[in-house]
Amino acid sequence: MKRIAVLTSGGDAPGMNAAVRAVVRSATAAGLEVLGVRDGFAGLIGGQLVRLGPREVGGIIERGGTFLGTSRCEDLKTSAGQDAALGQLRAAAIDGLVVIGGNGSQKGSWSLAQRGVQLVGVASTIDNDVFGAEPSIGATTALDTALEAIDRLRVTASAHRRAFVVEVMGRDSGYLALMAGIAGGAEAIVLPEEPTDVEQLAGEIRRSYARGKSHAIVVVAEGARYNAEGCARYFREHAARLGFELRITRLGHIQRGGAPCAFDRLIATRLGAAASDCLRRGEVGILLGSMQGAVAATPLATVTRSTKTFDTQLYRLAHTLAE
Ligand code: F6P
Repeated sequence: MKRIAVLTSGGDAPGMNAAVRAVVRSATAAGLEVLGVRDGFAGLIGGQLVRLGPREVGGIIERGGTFLGTSRCEDLKTSAGQDAALGQLRAAAIDGLVVIGGNGSQKGSWSLAQRGVQLVGVASTIDNDVFGAEPSIGATTALDTALEAIDRLRVTASAHRRAFVVEVMGRDSGYLALMAGIAGGAEAIVLPEEPTDVEQLAGEIRRSYARGKSHAIVVVAEGARYNAEGCARYFREHAARLGFELRITRLGHIQRGGAPCAFDRLIATRLGAAASDCLRRGEVGILLGSMQGAVAATPLATVTRSTKTFDTQLYRLAHTLAE
């Protein structure tokens, strides 16, 4: 293997830059040439490649986002798009590819790996829903960001004896909502994985006040049926009967920005370096994820057909601790 490429794909996550830096520096130290692909798979299809050496990845370990750019690429789902990507890899004499991204991106990785690309995926998404990673790069920073917002909201909620719904990201995964809810001491947590009875939710908020609490914080995942909008609508329509108003805060993309925390920089660094080592050793068609502090490799075939299990015990504990 002489020349490899690296790209970041899907929603950006804090720590992606640290991972790219580690891929580039460890590969060049081992005598490989590295190309960076701009804007994810879309850039690969369009042939947007730049030469990366150790200096080109200087001063980025502390930066959120991804200096390479990223995209969600529908074209890669088509065989014409895959043909174009394969053509660009061949034309640039690229022997191996590192793909840093979440579930959708690793599906794209698998489609190329099945067509012969020597490829290693690296799990990176704030949603922490990639099978084979616990946690994925970016999830811990995003959790800290959500938590800081929840702490601030609780201050004003208490001052006014108000109830707040805070919506965190997570289209299919309640990880951020569950963890931020527990760490933020929420009175209730609403997740995509658990059906929520909104009348029961109203009852929980009412009982919180009755127990002497001065506020109620409900953390909801954006993918839950009763997300911020769903809760707001329901409580507005039934305001007279429910007897209190809900204030809504959607944290949205704020959770994706910000400097990566130490933990994310460290796992990104280990995973990026391991990805370049795996390519050199010919260990390909795999996803690398951080698992219990170590680098774990899982076949992309397994990753793409598996769903991470949801921690129901932790969910029940959150309910108990909301007393
Ligand atoms: O990257 C994951 C994520 O942030 C999800 O939590 C969210 O549902 C989605 O991306 C939003 O994607 P986009 O920025 O493309 O709208």
